[in-house]
Amino acid sequence: MTSEKFDITAARQWLRLKSLAASAGKMKFAGLLDRERATSYQLEAAGLYLDYSRNLVTDEILDTLTELAESSPLATHREAMFRGEAINTTEQRPVLHAALRARTEELRADGLDDLAAGITVQKQRIREVSDRIRAGEWLGITGKPVRDVVNLGIGGSDLGPKLACEALKEFAHERIRCHFLSNVDGEPIHSLLRELDPETTLVIVSSKSFTTQETLLNAKTAAQWFRDRLGIVNPFASPHFIGVTAAPARAMQAGIPEQQLLLFGDWVGGRYSLWSSIGLTISISTGYDNFARMLEGARSMDRHFRTAPAERNMPVILALLGLWYANFLEAESHAVIPYCERLLQLPFYLQQLDMESNGKSVTVAGEQVRQTTGPIVWGLTGANGQHSFFQLLHQGTHLIPVDFIGLGEDALSSPRHHRVLLANMVAQSAALMQGRQSDKLPPWRIYPGNRPSNVLLLDRLTPESFGALIALYEHKVFVQGSLWNINSFDQWGVELGKELARELLDIGNDQGQLDAGARYLLDRLRW
Ligand code: F6P
Repeated sequence: MTSEKFDITAARQWLRLKSLAASAGKMKFAGLLDRERATSYQLEAAGLYLDYSRNLVTDEILDTLTELAESSPLATHREAMFRGEAINTTEQRPVLHAALRARTEELRADGLDDLAAGITVQKQRIREVSDRIRAGEWLGITGKPVRDVVNLGIGGSDLGPKLACEALKEFAHERIRCHFLSNVDGEPIHSLLRELDPETTLVIVSSKSFTTQETLLNAKTAAQWFRDRLGIVNPFASPHFIGVTAAPARAMQAGIPEQQLLLFGDWVGGRYSLWSSIGLTISISTGYDNFARMLEGARSMDRHFRTAPAERNMPVILALLGLWYANFLEAESHAVIPYCERLLQLPFYLQQLDMESNGKSVTVAGEQVRQTTGPIVWGLTGANGQHSFFQLLHQGTHLIPVDFIGLGEDALSSPRHHRVLLANMVAQSAALMQGRQSDKLPPWRIYPGNRPSNVLLLDRLTPESFGALIALYEHKVFVQGSLWNINSFDQWGVELGKELARELLDIGNDQGQLDAGARYLLDRLRW
């Protein structure tokens, strides 16, 4: 467990890093980039390759960062997570998404025997249901097989499955199309339903809590569509609905019968839930075997994270680099740029993973943090980003570290396209670091350079490499949260807005907690 009293800013290494940051601020790191640095500032793990040579760090900075991590409770905290201690202290829950990808003997070794059987049942159920749907054996009330699957969910009940289905489209089922609806805006659901045939549509209501307003309203709208179009009296009880939840009683109360539910434990955080039954859509789209390969890729990253020494540990290195920029060089954001259109959703996914986890300002002891915490995460695919916001990356006034992500090969592209894509990725990373200075150029044509980036390479976008990539970022976020001594696994910050909206819908504008400005706005909206 994180020691309640741990304060990273009091560590000896923290003070050392402060003085190193003062000198790093004046250094030109491109000048350090020789072959030796290129070959030593790189790592391989779980099939991923990380080149971190174009960062604003020296050996001394990296050593001090590593020592900082080693002097912290990180290793103990990491073990506590894998062993199922209640490290989500504000909700008194363990954090066990990694257990979903562990082998049974590993769970036993961690004393998680009780969990093992439940996880096996959960996976069997994902396999059984997705196999039936894929084989055309899950029939609608008119006897037709499923052609369209609509996942209704938001946040972690949407972003992970949506990202995975798109990333792994090379493995997608030929007949079945998966759709994702998250927003409570009525336009997307009405537009989508207009296109679909209710006889061959299956709706999956994905919600850990089964209380989420957006998802439940979308589910009601979909149910009404089945009533109107097929005359089904109780659509939730029909084979056109499946529920995925950690709150089965609520799902049953909403009308979905037990035999149409897939469950998972409350020890899986929403933003970490694509490995659980929430991944049903992934298994429907790619087949259970590919879903299992994704879990296996994540498991390899778990093994690496748990066993590699800090200086060779990919999530730890990424976390320390991020901490260096955030805490010592005043970077406020972090960009993620995948050079693969199938990873378009990755920045959105990482926004929830990182910002909902580490967007905190009190420690686990409830004290105000003494340093900045999680960065603003954003991004877009390359090369699209290059023709949009890269201007600011190259010549703007903000320091924005970038993660570039590329594929060695891409079976769905063609050599000609892929070569151009990769050339752009490598060139951007080099240009950001090298810059261009010359007395002969006007100031607006000067590139200051010294702008950091990592390059992450996947040989191919397979279920394994995808799983490893997601687990890499999960663990990076864990390491940073642990070093900052915050609870990365709750999300109390999202509650107040929900509460005020609920109140407004329930009791209107006259009473309640809204300020005068908000009331004025509502008058304008003729609320
Ligand atoms: O409001 C934030 C949040 O609780 C996320 O953490 C979660 O992923 C999302 O809402 C959806 O929650 P649920 O799966 O319970 O519907």
